Amino acid sequence: MAYINDNYLKLPGSYLFREVARRVAAFKESHPDADIIRLGIGDVTQPLPQASIDAMHKAVDEMAHQETFRGYGPEQGYDFLIEKIIENTYKKHGIDIAKNEIFVSDGAKSDCGNIQEIFGVNNTIAITDPVYPVYLDTNVMAGRTGTLGADGHFAGVTYLNCNAENDFTPALPEKRVDMIYLCCPNNPTGTTLSRKELKKWVDYAKENESILLFDAAYDAYITEADVPHSIYEIEGAKDVAIEFRSFSKTAGFTGTRCGYTVVPKGLRGHAADGSLHDFNSLWNRRHTTKFNGTAYIVQRGAEAVFSEEGQQQVRALVSYYMENARIIREGLQSKGMQVYGGINAPYIWLKTPDNMPSWDFFDKLLHEVNIVGTPGAGFGPCGEGYFRLTAFGDRENTLRAIDRIKNKLHF
Ligand code: MLT
Repeated sequence: MAYINDNYLKLPGSYLFREVARRVAAFKESHPDADIIRLGIGDVTQPLPQASIDAMHKAVDEMAHQETFRGYGPEQGYDFLIEKIIENTYKKHGIDIAKNEIFVSDGAKSDCGNIQEIFGVNNTIAITDPVYPVYLDTNVMAGRTGTLGADGHFAGVTYLNCNAENDFTPALPEKRVDMIYLCCPNNPTGTTLSRKELKKWVDYAKENESILLFDAAYDAYITEADVPHSIYEIEGAKDVAIEFRSFSKTAGFTGTRCGYTVVPKGLRGHAADGSLHDFNSLWNRRHTTKFNGTAYIVQRGAEAVFSEEGQQQVRALVSYYMENARIIREGLQSKGMQVYGGINAPYIWLKTPDNMPSWDFFDKLLHEVNIVGTPGAGFGPCGEGYFRLTAFGDRENTLRAIDRIKNKLHF
């Protein structure tokens, strides 16, 4: 009989959002008439930008004719998209990124999860607590951690606590680590790190020869000037950081799937024999071996996001969701709740009333007012006593949800 990868046995039963979905399905089964409003998983609800739809229609037509038909494309992505990314995301902000430093993919989740494959299994990792579970779970699967302790921590992982007391700003690790995952604007807390804070991390990585794995999936939601849109805005970051970006939250591509990862040339690690190697070459090797490129049609849709109309439409989408964030934030505050995030991110992170355990608050919200959110504890032990609501719902449901919380939820 074949052996399994035992590391999978270290993981809790199911992925956080599957567990939420399971509980909601069970509730629906026993309450078939419940009018459930879902503000749990951060999934968008508004249609794609018209510019992307038009571009994808055109691309479908190209696929219908022999002269314009496309088979396998370059695994790293088509130049037409990569050039637009460089121009609009980086060059405009004075950041110099080369074409062969960008790898287009089917989304940031896959890349954040897969990137650890090009790192040694003995590397130490640091994650914030709470954290987007993908960073941690994929390292557990790879065998880079020990087992899960009663305190909710995996042995061997450095947890960087983030809570209201430290303003959701993680302190530098006391013990040196090799790989550090940062997400800004943050999922799940919706909070951000200032330029000065990020500089601290870049300097730490330089001094300690660590690598930052920087998730910028929510950068389109930044409204405050002091929050960098890319880690590469910080001097020296190209020597120490890999950056993940996505069209999912920016342009509603959660179901369409397109993202990209920047692996700067010159970002190096040691082999077991001490020789130095480029992470860019390793990622290129992995990408070309395991991935056959994002669909041509989808890449055309992503390219259109950078057109003038596309940019206007994307701004309108982001404003729509951020108005939801304001409605949620202010609605909860008017009920006397403590809320965080929602200014530079589409997530509102709230303190549960009377420090109620977050899965209990999940049940209370679901049973009393039929609203689905995400329990903070699902993102790590420091998330206990907190709860996340997403601003990605549609307006009507967002308003109805806040009305229910304000007028029908008792605590
Ligand atoms: C979330 O709800 O945290 C997001 O949907 C996760 C994701 O983008 O995979």
